[in-house]
Amino acid sequence: MGIIKDCINNKKTDSVPIWLMRQAGRYLPEFRKIRSKNENFINLCLNPQLSKTITLQPLKRFSVDAAIIFSDILLIPLALGQEVEFKKNLGPKLGDLDFDKILNVSDHDILNKLNPIYDLIKITSKDEDLINKDLIGFIGATWTLLVYMINRQSPKKTNKKIYNLPNKNELINKIIHAQKLHIKNQVSSGATIIQIFDSWAGLLEVDKLNDYIYEPTRQLVEYTKNLGVEVICFPRSIKSYSEYCDIVKPSAISIDYEVDPIEIAENINIPIQGGMDPKSLLLDKNDMLKNAKKYLEVFKNHNYIFNLGHGVMPETNPENVKFLVNFVKDFK
Ligand code: CP3
Repeated sequence: MGIIKDCINNKKTDSVPIWLMRQAGRYLPEFRKIRSKNENFINLCLNPQLSKTITLQPLKRFSVDAAIIFSDILLIPLALGQEVEFKKNLGPKLGDLDFDKILNVSDHDILNKLNPIYDLIKITSKDEDLINKDLIGFIGATWTLLVYMINRQSPKKTNKKIYNLPNKNELINKIIHAQKLHIKNQVSSGATIIQIFDSWAGLLEVDKLNDYIYEPTRQLVEYTKNLGVEVICFPRSIKSYSEYCDIVKPSAISIDYEVDPIEIAENINIPIQGGMDPKSLLLDKNDMLKNAKKYLEVFKNHNYIFNLGHGVMPETNPENVKFLVNFVKDFK
C-alpha cells in the first residue's frame, strides 16, 4: 500500500503522488528489447514472468509511487471467446463477434484464460520494488470494450450499429459479469487499486450516456468499493466530468488533457488524477516542467495524484520522464 491510496483516502502525504499511464511501454528501450523477441503481444501479456519484468521496469528507473500491471483491456474480449490480434503499427484487430459463443462461455473458461494475469499480480505484489507502493490492476470500461468488440478495431467515430443490436443487453450483461470476475481476481491476487479505462467515453451521444456508460460503470465502481479497494475512473473526453462523478461515484477521477483543469478544480471535490498533455513530454525540459507546474498549482488544495491526460507516447525520451517525476516529488 502506498501514498496513492493515502491521497485518495484523504491522508496527508509528504509529496504529491505520481504514476503515469503507459509508464511501461515502447518509450523504454528495455521494453522494446523484450518486445522484439516476443512478436505475439497477447502471449507476452499472458507470460507472468516477462509481464512482471515489464511491470517493474519503470520502477527501476523512476521514483513513481505505483506500478500498473502490464496487461491489456482487450484480454476480456479474448477471454469471452473473441479473437484478438495486435498487428505491428496497426493497433488491435478483433475477430468475428459470435454472440452464441460469447453468451455461453463459462466462468471457468474465462478465468482459465485470464489466470496468468493473476499469477503476474501474485508474483509482482511480493517484489521488493513494491514495498510501500501500490499495484494498480485495471479493466476497460463496458462501453470501450463494446466499441472494440463491435468495431473489431479502434473506432474513428461512433458505430451506430451498437444501439440496434438485438442481443445488446445480454452482451452488455455478459461483459459486466466478466469484468466483475476480473476485478475480484485481480484484487484477491494483490492489486491494491483498480483503474477503469473508458478511452472512448467521448464518442457516446449524450442521450445514451446512462445506458452505456453511467449505469454499467456505477455498478462496477460499487462492486469494487465493496471489495474494500479504491477505484479510479478515466472516462476520457466525457462531456461532463462532474455529472459523471455525481452518478458513477468513483474513489478518484482521472482527467484528460483537453478539459480545463481550473474548471475541474472548481467543480469537483473528489480526489483528482492526471490531466497534463502527454505531448508535454516531447517538449524541452523547461517547457515540460512549466506545464507540470500548472497542474500542481491548480490542484494545490485538492487531493491530487499527478499523471498524464492519456498514456506516455512511444516517442518520449525517458530522461524527460525522470525530470518530470523528480520535479513532482520535490514540489512543495
Ligand atoms: O503501462 C501501462 O499503462 C500498463 C499497460 C497497458 C497496456 N494497455 C499495454 C499496451 C494498459 C493500462 C493498457 C490499456 C489499454 N489498452 C487501453 C486503455 C488506455 C488507452 O490507451 O486509451 C486501450 C484502449 C487498449 C487497447 C490497445 N492496446 C491499443 C489500441 C493498442 C495499440 C495502440 C497503442 O497504443 O499501442 C494496444 C497495445 C498496447 N497495450 C501496447 C502496450 C504497451 C503496445 C504494444 C506494442 O506494440 O508493443
